[in-house]
Amino acid sequence: MSNAYINAIKSRRSQYALGKELPLPQQEVTALIQEAIKLSPSSFNSQSSRAVILFGSQSDQFWSIVKEELRKIVPAEAFAATGTKIDGFAAGAGTVLFYEDQNVIAELQKQFAAYADNFPVWSEQASGIAQFSVWSALANAGIGASLQHYNPLPDAAAASEWNLPASWKLRAQMPFGANKGGFGEKSFIDDAQRFRVFA
Ligand SMILES: Cc1cc2nc3c(=O)[nH]c(=O)nc-3n(C[C@H](O)[C@H](O)[C@H](O)COP(=O)(O)O)c2cc1C
Repeated sequence: MSNAYINAIKSRRSQYALGKELPLPQQEVTALIQEAIKLSPSSFNSQSSRAVILFGSQSDQFWSIVKEELRKIVPAEAFAATGTKIDGFAAGAGTVLFYEDQNVIAELQKQFAAYADNFPVWSEQASGIAQFSVWSALANAGIGASLQHYNPLPDAAAASEWNLPASWKLRAQMPFGANKGGFGEKSFIDDAQRFRVFA
C-alpha cells in the first residue's frame, strides 16, 4: 500500500536500545512533541492531555526516581535486572511524561452530567491518541522511543520535582533517543480474525 500516512506510522516501533544523540536540536524535538499533542483530538475538544518533556539530566532524574521507587518493592535479588532495564531508558536523550488533567474531566462531568461516566474513559483514549501521535512523529524524525507505565510509583516524587499541578495524573512515560538497535520481527494476526467488511 502506498499512502503517506501509513508509511509514516510504519516507522514507529518500540525501541529499547536508546542513545543520547538526537538528529534535531532539542527545541525542534520539543516543538514536534508539542505539535503532535496539540493536533491530537480529545472529547469535546477538551484538550485534557498534558506533557512534561525532559531532556538530559532532567530525564535521568526521572528514571532515578523510578529506580528508587522500584527498589522499595522489588526483591533485592531481582533488582539488578530491574536496574539495568531502567538504565536503558535513562540511556536515551529524553523522556516525555504524559499526563491527563483531572480538573478538565471533573469540569466536563459537571457541565455534561449525562456523559459523566464517559469522560474518564475518553480522557484515557485521548491520552492514547496523543501518545501514538508523539511516538509516530518522533519515529518520522529518526528518533527511537518506547512506551512505559511505571505510574503510579513515581507520581508523587515527579510532581514534587517538577512542581506539577495536583490535578495532573501520570498515564505513561516515553523514553526517546538515538536508535541504537534494530527492531524485532513483528507478527500480525489474521485479518479475518480482526476485520469484518460488508459492502
Ligand atoms: C496501551 C499500550 C501499553 C503498552 N505498555 C508498554 C509497557 O508498559 N512497556 C513496554 O515496554 N511496552 C509497552 N507497550 C508497547 C507494546 O508492547 C508494543 O507496541 C507492541 O508489542 C508492538 O510493538 P511495536 O511497538 O514495535 O510496534 C504498550 C503499548 C500500548 C499500545
